[in-house]
Amino acid sequence: MTGRLAGKIALVTGAGRGIGEAIARRFHAEGADVIVTDVNPQARSVADALGKKASFIALDATDEYAWDAALEEVLGRCGRLDILVNNAGGSAGAGPFETFTLAMHRREVDLNLTSTWLGSRCAVRAMTQGGGSIVNISSMDGLAGIAGMASYVSAKFGVTGLTRTLALELGERGIRVNSVHPGFIATPLVEAASLAIKERLGKAISQQPIKRYGKPEEVAAAALFLASDEASFCTGASLLVDGGHLAGPWREMV
Ligand SMILES: NC(=O)c1ccc[n+]([C@@H]2O[C@H](COP(=O)([O-])OP(=O)(O)OC[C@H]3O[C@@H](n4cnc5c(N)ncnc54)[C@H](O)[C@@H]3O)[C@@H](O)[C@H]2O)c1
Repeated sequence: MTGRLAGKIALVTGAGRGIGEAIARRFHAEGADVIVTDVNPQARSVADALGKKASFIALDATDEYAWDAALEEVLGRCGRLDILVNNAGGSAGAGPFETFTLAMHRREVDLNLTSTWLGSRCAVRAMTQGGGSIVNISSMDGLAGIAGMASYVSAKFGVTGLTRTLALELGERGIRVNSVHPGFIATPLVEAASLAIKERLGKAISQQPIKRYGKPEEVAAAALFLASDEASFCTGASLLVDGGHLAGPWREMV
């Protein structure tokens, strides 16, 4: 690893497992001081395993007051924040949209969109060094619809819109805001899916150019680029990491 984030202070939400954990590990390997956060207190083990220059804060990313407390802790401990990765998110399940209750819909919006809005608002206050980078983990479902996922898709499209709007608002303050859009990534979220969902995923993957699940480390590599100074002219960008899934519907002449 080459120290691409040396001297930076980075906070990652939902970093206890899956994509968030891979991002925390990669950022740490690249020299960042990493604040691992997660609603699950067991995620402390990720920071413990990283050792020096890693710490843990229990943070429910949907909770406004928890964000305020976390921000205070970060400022007290580190004096500022350079990078925020709004990764916490996910979906409780798929189904015809009219079968979802309002509570289910609100949960998806809270977990994916409101968490990102809250985190970004806090980060801006803590990016006191005249700049910073916010990376939002959206989804390919934040750029294209998918039947059976109306609430999740609405929330992830919201993350895409929030990213682009904050890029406009924060550019002059030196804060870049970009989103990463993973396709089908092999994480515990996917491993926990039902057999029927896994069969559908297998069929969809067989029709994309790179016919396999992505790895959390491949999403982390994209987040690293956008977080780092190498992306100094990128803001408001949507970076797909989806094995080419959204490049088509599959069509061929050869
Ligand atoms: N895995 C995929 O195929 C895929 C595809 C596209 C987008 N994504 C997005 O990537 C992100 C990470 O997904 P993953 O597959 O690694 O999920 P995961 O379920 O494997 O891990 C999510 C982590 O977030 C934590 N978390 C859950 N609710 C939280 C909350 N309210 N506050 C803080 N932390 C919370 C969990 O404890 C867990 O550690 C999500 O935003 C998800 O929507 C994943």
